[in-house]
Amino acid sequence: MKRFLFALFALMVSMPSLSAAEKSAPKESEAYKFADKLIKKMTLREKIGQLQQFVPKKGVVTGPDGGVENIEESIRQGLVGSFLNIRSTKRMHELQRMAVKESRLGIPLIFGFDIIHGCRIIFPENLAMSCSWDIEAIERSARIAAAETAAIGIHWTFSPMCDISADSRWGRVSEGSGEDPYLGAKISAAMVRGYQGKDLSADNTIAACVKHFAAYGAPQAGRDYHTVDMSRFMLIDRYLPPYRAAVEAGAVTAMSSFNDFEGVPASGNRWILHDLLRGELGFKGFVVSDWNAVHEMVAHGTAANGKDAARQAMNAHLNMDMVYGDYIKYGEALVEEGEVSEKTINQLCREVLAVKYQLGLFDNPYKYGSQNKSEVIYRAENLEFARELAAKSMVLLSNNGVLPLKEGVKIALVGPLADNARSQLGSWRGFGEAKRSVTIREGLEARFGKDNIFYAKGCDFRNAIEGGIEEALRVAENADVVLLSVGLSHKESGEATSLTDISLPAPQQALLDALKGTGKKIVVLLGTGRAMDIRNEVEKADAVLLTWHGGTMEGPAVADLVSGDKNPSGHLSISFPYCVGQLPLHYNMKMTGRPRKSPQHNSKYLSRYTDAPNEPLFPFGYGLSYTEFEYSDLKVVTPNVSMGGTVKVRVKISNTGQCAGEDVVQLYVRDLVAETTRPVRELKGFERVSLAAGESKIVEFKIPTSDLAYCHSDLKVRADSGDFLVWVGADSNAKLQGKFAIR
Ligand code: GLC
Repeated sequence: MKRFLFALFALMVSMPSLSAAEKSAPKESEAYKFADKLIKKMTLREKIGQLQQFVPKKGVVTGPDGGVENIEESIRQGLVGSFLNIRSTKRMHELQRMAVKESRLGIPLIFGFDIIHGCRIIFPENLAMSCSWDIEAIERSARIAAAETAAIGIHWTFSPMCDISADSRWGRVSEGSGEDPYLGAKISAAMVRGYQGKDLSADNTIAACVKHFAAYGAPQAGRDYHTVDMSRFMLIDRYLPPYRAAVEAGAVTAMSSFNDFEGVPASGNRWILHDLLRGELGFKGFVVSDWNAVHEMVAHGTAANGKDAARQAMNAHLNMDMVYGDYIKYGEALVEEGEVSEKTINQLCREVLAVKYQLGLFDNPYKYGSQNKSEVIYRAENLEFARELAAKSMVLLSNNGVLPLKEGVKIALVGPLADNARSQLGSWRGFGEAKRSVTIREGLEARFGKDNIFYAKGCDFRNAIEGGIEEALRVAENADVVLLSVGLSHKESGEATSLTDISLPAPQQALLDALKGTGKKIVVLLGTGRAMDIRNEVEKADAVLLTWHGGTMEGPAVADLVSGDKNPSGHLSISFPYCVGQLPLHYNMKMTGRPRKSPQHNSKYLSRYTDAPNEPLFPFGYGLSYTEFEYSDLKVVTPNVSMGGTVKVRVKISNTGQCAGEDVVQLYVRDLVAETTRPVRELKGFERVSLAAGESKIVEFKIPTSDLAYCHSDLKVRADSGDFLVWVGADSNAKLQGKFAIR
């Protein structure tokens, strides 16, 4: 008997752990059974109705020419399955009642909204949050957002944005998790877990959405909506991991991207939406197009008209047409003319119905929005958490000792972001309210005392203000130090905000120069949703703290850091370039055949610029603290690992400074010889470590060989045996080096 029990135990232990998607399988099969039964009762028109999403004319418009006039009639006739961007709980319940009580089959609607970095409580923009490298905290932010969103009556968020990007000319870098596939994958999965929880039918979880599929983060010249031209190899090797992780975490919806891929717009690209998303990644939910993206195939020039676009999209396995309406307009005719089979329509429809079923909408269509909002929204502990996460997301880029400030210090607080309740919420502010923002000015006044803060706006983002500089100089006179809160407004972050110049706008540079002339110490607080060219600011300032667009609680978070109550611990998830000409720029580029091995390595025939360095101003993974951390004793515990085994690497990290702090210990590898070119370094492990002054800790990384898999020329992702270098340290230039081999 004992032997049997042992064997049973061994079998259970050896069974691969189920992904979230597999764990939810029973619910899924139940949902598809329900959907198949319902489909049998539906007319063709009603089935196509489930594939149409509209926005009310009076809804929040997040794209061009959208909106439908008579939504009530569309609902009664069962011609619409979903709405996006409705803000009122009451209105959503009204429309839901029409769908359930007044349409022939009473199929509930699903309501979607862009809850990107918080709902009522706004967390830092996603790029900022990714600089916390705190996966649990990011998951918690999504969980809080989900609870608030569900309480408002919304079932579905168009998040996480999984697009890797290394080009800060593209304003949407603010919505993603930076330039690295490994960090991006961890974060995308965490957000799906946060939104969907363990039970999608609970009244505090919402459907997630893997977007924008695929490779939207690599538009030519950093110009939004521009062509994405890359190989399938590059897509799979570098851009796919965050999408894959979000699907494996169980995301039940996805969104097709605006861009074309291999010359075919994603919304009509069957290789992307069917073969890759469903075949390779195993996605089982439904795909909604991006705003008008089906109809935009006409503008792309791959569809003659809306009917042709709808045909291509339906046959590419795109389930739902967001806004424009080609699906409901032409769907029946396409089936009657044999251009799209009814079998396809049934498949597209069942996947939508299955998600509605998993959300519990057929059991109780009014569950969402029926919670007691006051118990769920703006909870004190969640606001406190938002303050902590904002502080963890901020990155200390330079500091000559001016920070942290001393008690009793008199502060001149100057700049267009110093008291800007709206901009600190960033782009995609969901249901965020500027009136609830605690601005930097308010945060500093609360921490240092109103009498010690002398405020002047100084200038607007891109325009001087009459007398603005004079006023700034006046407040600086009485101060011991100047905090200059500058950068970009929320309007210069997110969709359709591409820039060719990512340096600080001239009026703000003029303000800095004028204040520099006073001889006072200057701390630049940089508010932005993207990496910027800040050579000038770094040279002139005594410290630069990257505050991003830090969300509702940005002000207290800044006060926590500049006062030293908290120690900065953010690390860059996107390289800050030396200049815009380097973009796209990321640490994990390829060696090339003529590598410039160091900034000093000079010869004509090398892969380099003749007018700028190859290196960024601040590298991926970089971030300072008020204390110092030392890395030593790197030990590769397993110099030789068999395939399927685990590489173990240990390092000692010591806090050699005068105060407690947290650092992000990062592990990078390089695959020295592979079947395809490999990046010079690849992040394969990280851990936030908190140490008191003088304390040391051994950190051990365990890397399964499966994490060292890469895309081969046959487009299959697998690991090979071979030799690797490994580095551990506090950024992507980590010096401590070791080596191991997979044998
Ligand atoms: C926008 C964005 C997408 C968003 C959608 C709905 O155009 O590209 O990210 O989810 O439309 O607002």
